[in-house]
Amino acid sequence: MVNLDKHLSNRAKELRGSLGRQTSVSIAGLINLGSGTPDFMPPQAVLDAMHEAVSGGRIQYTSWTGIPELRKAIADKLKSENNIAVDPDSEIIVTSGAQEALMITLMTLLDPGDHALTPSPHYDEYTRDAKILGGTLIPVPTTPESNFTIDVADLEAAITAQTKAIVVVSPNNPTGTVLPESKLLEIAALAQKRDLMVISDEIYEYYVFDGHKHFSMASLPNMRERTITINSFSKSFAMTGVRLGYIAAPAEIVEAMLPFHHAMMICANAVAQYAGLAALTQPRDWFKDVLIEYDRRRQLWLSTLKEVGLLCSEPQGAYYVFIDIRPTGLSSAEFVAKAREEARLVFQPGTIGGGAGEGFIRGALTKGSPEFEEGLERFKSFVRKLIP
Ligand SMILES: Cc1ncc(COP(=O)(O)O)c(C=O)c1O
Repeated sequence: MVNLDKHLSNRAKELRGSLGRQTSVSIAGLINLGSGTPDFMPPQAVLDAMHEAVSGGRIQYTSWTGIPELRKAIADKLKSENNIAVDPDSEIIVTSGAQEALMITLMTLLDPGDHALTPSPHYDEYTRDAKILGGTLIPVPTTPESNFTIDVADLEAAITAQTKAIVVVSPNNPTGTVLPESKLLEIAALAQKRDLMVISDEIYEYYVFDGHKHFSMASLPNMRERTITINSFSKSFAMTGVRLGYIAAPAEIVEAMLPFHHAMMICANAVAQYAGLAALTQPRDWFKDVLIEYDRRRQLWLSTLKEVGLLCSEPQGAYYVFIDIRPTGLSSAEFVAKAREEARLVFQPGTIGGGAGEGFIRGALTKGSPEFEEGLERFKSFVRKLIP
């Protein structure tokens, strides 16, 4: 018998098991009420573009940074929707999802021992990525009382000589918090004062509710030169499996990122790039109906929680409902395990994005009728048994 463990790198050993159990696989009877996968179809033009790319044989390597038409469409989108001016030839890399984008961003910024700060609860992948690189993602806790909105004084207090960057995710996964422009301006001022880079993950930008507005960090005064904007087609266009995203950053940073992008991907999937081009050149109003449906589900979640006497943080954006389960007396992990076993419901523990999420679980708006309503009914009976 070969001792395979002996052959694993320390890095591999350290990260082994860190992904937990995969919950996206569908198992008969289980309803996933916490999934991060949108359930609507992309615009038909996106599907047509993929068919055409395949039948036209456009399946070879593209330019490393992406096909020029797509880079131009991204630059046009960033200008018109996000008020960020970028040069499509030198300031954009088309990536294999935001996931690759954030990994190559951290590869470009962090040396072993370096830190990146982020308000927590946060998207857990950043922790793993930093660890793989020998760096550390420092979670700066936020509280339910502030609707998980970062206090910039806390962010500043966490800065050390090792700090290289601040990661900002707004709208946030898992809390649904949308940072107002005033908060982004405060973070921007801190980044300038302490000479830090900002990584701005904006993949949920289209999902904002109740009049909340998404603002792009790079559009703020003097921030373009120190911001790496990460975005993706996964959530905006319901194309999570197509694996397409992008980075917009100053040319010098993009140039430094290229070896990492090339090492992992050479280029983003060619067929996916044509799909992305079709997505961006669609009139954006098709998303209106999607947002109305997600808002309907959000309202249903809110009334369900009210019925059973639970609260959640205000779901301002993204498509999550961050539910306060402290009245049940269970920890996040216990609640998730029990809900799976007894009610056949799947949630994410709030702690997936750091200890600040203890006492919370992540629900989502991504399940359609009638399973969604069925899931909520099960949720109600389950919680009623916990807090009669
Ligand atoms: C905040 C955040 N960033 C990045 C990603 C990765 O997205 P992609 O599918 O574009 O790789 C996710 C996925 O859930 C996410 O929630």
